[in-house]
Order: sequence, then structure tokens, then C-alpha cells
Amino acid sequence: MITLNVDLDERSYPIFIGDNLLNYFLNNKNLISDYIKGKQIVIVSNETIAPLYLKKTLELFSSYQCKSVILPDGEIYKTYDGILPIINCLMENQFDRHVTLVALGGGVVGDMTGFAAAIYRRGVNFIQIPTTLLAQVDSSVGGKTGVNHPLGKNMIGSFHQPQCVIADTNTLKTLDDRQLSSGIAEVIKYALINNASFFNWLLNNMDALINRDADALAYAIKFSCQDKAAIVAADEKEQGQRAILNLGHTFGHAIETALGYGNCLHGEAVAIGMVMAADLSVRHGWIDSDTQQKIIELIKLASLPVQIPAEEKQVSVQELSRLMQGDKKVLDGQLHLVLINALGNSFITSEFDRTKLEQTLETFSTK
Ligand code: NAD
Ligand code: GLY
Repeated sequence: MITLNVDLDERSYPIFIGDNLLNYFLNNKNLISDYIKGKQIVIVSNETIAPLYLKKTLELFSSYQCKSVILPDGEIYKTYDGILPIINCLMENQFDRHVTLVALGGGVVGDMTGFAAAIYRRGVNFIQIPTTLLAQVDSSVGGKTGVNHPLGKNMIGSFHQPQCVIADTNTLKTLDDRQLSSGIAEVIKYALINNASFFNWLLNNMDALINRDADALAYAIKFSCQDKAAIVAADEKEQGQRAILNLGHTFGHAIETALGYGNCLHGEAVAIGMVMAADLSVRHGWIDSDTQQKIIELIKLASLPVQIPAEEKQVSVQELSRLMQGDKKVLDGQLHLVLINALGNSFITSEFDRTKLEQTLETFSTK
């Protein structure tokens, strides 16, 4: 087991990463008790993950007063109303401020459970048990919780840190290939924002990752969590540098919203968004087209899309532009983007040429 720490003073917490961790915690039940205040637990999962891992998770909390809430599966249910079953369960059972919520699932379950924990009785504890690669390398760490609005992704939410993160890499065995690739998009993001040697490692090891080589996955998860933990520790509430983690996301969120939540997976949209960020960076002369090609090559090796899919719905420049203008990274009316000035070096800027942005949107729009 690898243990990393997210260093946030009194809100610090460990990330445990390892194969068969659920069994390990089950055999050492005293370990989990350090992260639970009272006697009450609510496990939140969904209809796909519950049949796979709920029984084991219930056993882990067998000495507590424990309830479970099973949500429908899908990004379309990540809404304000979608968290009501969690809140109803808490209210109906009169769970107190010492209750701990446990998010058993991918980023959708994690974001929704974290948000419910942030608002129930003005804030109760929660634990993340991420079961997708995306959640293990990104969404379970850092305390961003929330839900989508029809007009914008993740627009309603709160910063609320978990008590601990238990990333059992064994759960990735039941994940389908498309979801695995979606998680790899966020891994590529870490390489592009600040680590050229990790970018080269990914080029050399993408085959192993796609084929679920345990060592390669463990290395990629550890590297990603280490990177994210350091960035979050330096800027917990995204007052500045944490926004670097949004490389590809302003484009990506617009794509996800425009295509309809769930039609393009989050990691797929981020992959296309990173290609768009590279395109805009080339237009400014910040990277050359060879560098852009290397980025596209790596993304393709991960079986990720590099263009907006045109099957579901056509997306226009105007729609992308309008959605991007509603992004959380618009401050005082100014859109901020994460762009690239070398492999392994990205930066946040509002000083880009609007005409060049329009050209990038023209190149990638499908209508
Ligand atoms: P997801 O939660 O929808 O999970 C993907 C699919 O895999 C779902 O159908 C799920 O039921 C299934 N699944 C999960 N674990 C499984 C397993 N072990 N075996 C088989 N099937 C399994 O999607 P995701 O990619 O995990 O997360 C995407 C969400 O995360 C988006 O809503 C995105 O906005 C959010 N996100 C949040 C942050 C953050 O910092 N909070 C960061 C990145 C992404
Ligand atoms: N996924 C971006 C962040 O956590 O800041």
C-alpha cells in the first residue's frame, strides 16, 4: 500500500493506494475507525457499482449503524435534485452531525456524495472509495464537490475535503475499456501541465496502461495523486495556481454540456479540450506543430478522441463560445484558459488573441 498525504493543516488527509485495499481494510477494521467520528455511516453508490462492491463495503462498516443509498447510474443524474435521495436518507434516519458519508464509485458518485456531505447540517464528514481510474487519479482528491446545471458543468458545488481516500486498484478490473481511457485523459493532463519526463514515460508505457498492467497503473495513479496533492495543498480553493488542473477543461466542459451530459465522457471531452488548447497554443507560437502532434499521438495511443464526435449532435462555434463564457474560469467577464508553452509546461492566461480562439473553435466545431 502506498500512502500519500494531502497537506491542508487541520483538513489534511491520507490517500491510500493499492491492490485489494478493500480486503486489506476489511482484515484490519481498526484502520478505518481513525477516519470516523460517530457511529453512523451512509454509503452512497450507484446501481452499477453496488452489485460489485457494496457487500464488501457494508462489511467494512459492519460495526456502525449503516445505511446505503443507491443512485441511478449516469452523468445526467448528477443534478441538484439527484442528491435528494442522499439528503432524504439522512433526514429520515435522523443522522446527526457525526455521520460519515462514504462515496463508493466514480467521479459522479464522489462529487454528489461530497456535495451532500458539504451541505447536510452545514457539513459532515465523508470518505472517498473511488472505483474508476478517473476518480482514483483526480476527482476523489482535492475536495471539489458538486453537481451540474443544464447551463453549465459542475456549476453548483462546494470545496469540502474528505477524511481519507481509499483507492483499491483491484476495482479497476471491472471497469470497461472506454472508462479506463477516460481516466487516462486526466493522467495525460498531469504530464502536460508540469512534467515532460512523465509525458515520455506515458508515451513508452501507454500500451501497458491500456492493457491494465498493475505496476504501470499503480505508478500512474501514484504520480497523478502526488501531483494533485501538491497543487491542492498550495491552493486549496483555486485562488490561483490550482486552475492549472483545468487544462482542457474549459473546452471540455463546453463540449460535454453542448453534446448533452453523458454523451461524451468527461475524460474524452478533456482529451479533445487538451488538443484544442494545443491548437490555440500553436496559433500563438507558444508551441510548434511537432509538439502538438506529439500530444495528439499520446492521446490517440490512449484510445481517446481528438475531435468532437459528430454522431450525437452538431456543435457550433457560437454554442461553444457561449458555454465557455459561462465557465467558472471567467472572472470579471474575462475568460482564463490553461494553454501550453512546452511539453510538460502549461500556464494560465487571459491574454490570448480572441480571433485565434475563434479560429480554434472554427476548426473543432462540427456545425
Ligand atoms: P462515472 O462516475 O460516471 O463512472 C463511469 C462509469 O463507470 C459509470 O457507469 C459507473 O457506474 C461505472 N463504474 C464505476 N466504477 C466501476 C467499476 N469499478 N467497475 C465497473 N463499472 C464502474 O465517471 P468518472 O469518469 O469516474 O467521473 C466523471 C465525473 O467526475 C464527472 O462528473 C466530472 O465532472 C467529475 N470530476 C470531478 C473532479 C473533481 O475534482 N471533483 C475531477 C475530475 C472529474
Ligand atoms: N479537477 C480539477 C481540480 O480538482 O481542481
